[in-house]
Amino acid sequence: MAMGRKLIAGNWKMNGLKTEGVVLARAVAERLASAGPIPVDLLVCPPATLIWPVTEAVAGTGLAVGGQDCHPQVSGAHTGDISAAMLAEAGCGYVIVGHSERRQNHGETDALIATKAAAAHAAGLVAIICVGETDAERDRGEAGTVVERQLAGSIPASATATNTVIAYEPVWAIGTGRTATPADVAQIHALIRETLVRRLDSGAAVRILYGGSVKPSNARELMAVPDVDGALVGGASLKADEFWGIVTSCP
Ligand code: PGA
Repeated sequence: MAMGRKLIAGNWKMNGLKTEGVVLARAVAERLASAGPIPVDLLVCPPATLIWPVTEAVAGTGLAVGGQDCHPQVSGAHTGDISAAMLAEAGCGYVIVGHSERRQNHGETDALIATKAAAAHAAGLVAIICVGETDAERDRGEAGTVVERQLAGSIPASATATNTVIAYEPVWAIGTGRTATPADVAQIHALIRETLVRRLDSGAAVRILYGGSVKPSNARELMAVPDVDGALVGGASLKADEFWGIVTSCP
């Protein structure tokens, strides 16, 4: 276990227009306010256009806001991209980098992801670096080697336990309703922990999230697995009650 406080992060992906996004963020913030002190950090990562209205809507509530991607550079001729400094200025404290949908749909490599994470660190953001094997890689017995290779390539030298979170998201479990078993999760999280301890002075304290079809009905057993320090939640983060059900499943 890392820092003691779990992190439950909602990845809204390309979902939501302004009204519903603000309503959703406010609904999560209200549940947080009425819960009183809880040993869980809460984060939502809306699409880029909603970052300003969402950060304004939840300012001062303790609900953190993050981006879903950033460019490695601070500024320049990069049409359509957004820099880590822009996210920070808009009120973000976190950014997801290397999500499997970006690795697949945008051809992102480990080396690129490392530069994005370093840019996030330079802007004062916590980088949530995603790793995870595909179905075919798991079937070939390569889950561990793939995750180790991704970690080796996508964690920059600037990483510490305070500016970096690792999210293990098996690609076959994302949005499919198939979840890794607690034993599978335990095995890969232990491997990630070993790698982090070897690689970083503060590796024992880096938070490692599990992601892939996390929902209230499976969160309790997943969040109890050793070295699972929280969850990265896609589909279930789009409904305040479901997202909150995952938060309250944390031991
Ligand atoms: P899911 O997505 O919870 O919908 O499976 C998780 C993610 O992609 O971060």
